[in-house]
Amino acid sequence: MEKDQRKYFRNLLLHFRPSTVPERTLRLTLTWGLGGMSVVLLFLLIGTGLLLKFVYEPAPGLAYDSILYINNQVPFGQLLRNLHRWSGNGLILVAFLHFLRIFYTGAFDVSRRFNWLIGLTLFAAVVLSNFTGYLLPWDQIAYWAITISTSMLDYIPVVGGGMKRLILGGAEPGPVTLLNFYAIHTAILPALLLFVLPFHFWRIRKANGLVIPRSPEEAPGTRGPEVDAMPHLIVREVTTALVVLAVVLLISIFFNAPLTEQANPGLSPNPTKAPWYFMGIQEMLMHFHPVFSLLVIPIILLAGLLALPWLTSPAESTGVWFRSRKGRAMAMTASVFAVIVTVAAVLLDEYYFSAGQAGPPNMIDNGLMPFAIALAVCTGFYFGIKKAFKASRDEAILSLFTLLVTSFVVMTVIGIWFRGTGMQLMWAG
Ligand code: HEM
Repeated sequence: MEKDQRKYFRNLLLHFRPSTVPERTLRLTLTWGLGGMSVVLLFLLIGTGLLLKFVYEPAPGLAYDSILYINNQVPFGQLLRNLHRWSGNGLILVAFLHFLRIFYTGAFDVSRRFNWLIGLTLFAAVVLSNFTGYLLPWDQIAYWAITISTSMLDYIPVVGGGMKRLILGGAEPGPVTLLNFYAIHTAILPALLLFVLPFHFWRIRKANGLVIPRSPEEAPGTRGPEVDAMPHLIVREVTTALVVLAVVLLISIFFNAPLTEQANPGLSPNPTKAPWYFMGIQEMLMHFHPVFSLLVIPIILLAGLLALPWLTSPAESTGVWFRSRKGRAMAMTASVFAVIVTVAAVLLDEYYFSAGQAGPPNMIDNGLMPFAIALAVCTGFYFGIKKAFKASRDEAILSLFTLLVTSFVVMTVIGIWFRGTGMQLMWAG
């Protein structure tokens, strides 16, 4: 009987997982378990979110009190809220690292191109889920983060005002915003994520599984031996899931999800910061006119990301970390260069170019000029590093990607830890 049950369970599993997998794709140093961790966090989010929905009320007069009620009256309510908050934040981080692993192992070759696009859609939905959820507690930090994140749109000519009204459902955050964000957060985005995720897995099956990892010296095409998915893959997946759950649970026991005073539209906190995952953009806004930081630069970067598998198709280096040994050295050079140049540019702008500048940003000094300089640095870097390392196009694109990602991370860090009152630079976190 027990044997039969095991057989049925095994058969059921094989509907979701392949019966065998190449032994090499089980190596932790290929995936780092990041895709699996994202799935676990996503389901934890949906589970805890469903439970929160029983108590939360999406109206300005009631939302804050319902959060207090969850925190103080509902058994394990605070823990539930913590689990939801930290798994949401964790998912951004883990999905971002998964995205980096896909890029750096070249897992977006012809058979995986479409999955790259599906992945980007998933990532956008994850970030939007976090953003829309941020407002729901209706406390000061949430209200003003959403206000600051959307107010900059006003600077964008012609479409900016309309975009802001569309997002907020009015001129400023109010009952309509809360209800819209609630509907998007609890229905539209979870439905989208659950709908798109199976396509992500289907594409992996269609591409004949994950990329086969190999050292730069190994010739492509060696699949190596196959092993049974049960137990080899399944045990690893279950272990990863348990570790992730344990870590999120521990974090949620020791750290409470933030909640400040109830939202007060008449009193803005100082500094007013966007959610941490948008701090890179808020930092960019300190140096570039909003037309560039919210429209031109994001559109160029997004277009680049979408087109990446068509711009560079590392067919012979798929599965090799950083494409080659040279690629690894170039990536390291690019990240050191990005840290130095970004920090120097922020300091120069803060203490030299924009020092004493009052009034709204203007198109020339804060727009075209810094944009042209940034473009020149990127172009110069691309051709410079390509020549210096006698590198291929793929390796040069990898370096440029590293430069941009590192620069964004540095700006995020500066925004979160090095900006204080009045968004001035400060030296102690
Ligand atoms: C909610 C977000 C996401 C979830 C839940 C998710 C889940 C997964 C899982 C479970 C795998 C297989 C295991 C692994 O590679 O670690 C995978 C592979 C893959 N993912 Fe994602 N992913 C997400 C976001 C992304 C993003 C942002 C991208 C890139 C833009 C991406 C592109 C891919 C590709 C191309 C593969 C196949 C990799 C290969 O063949 O080696 N995914 N994903």
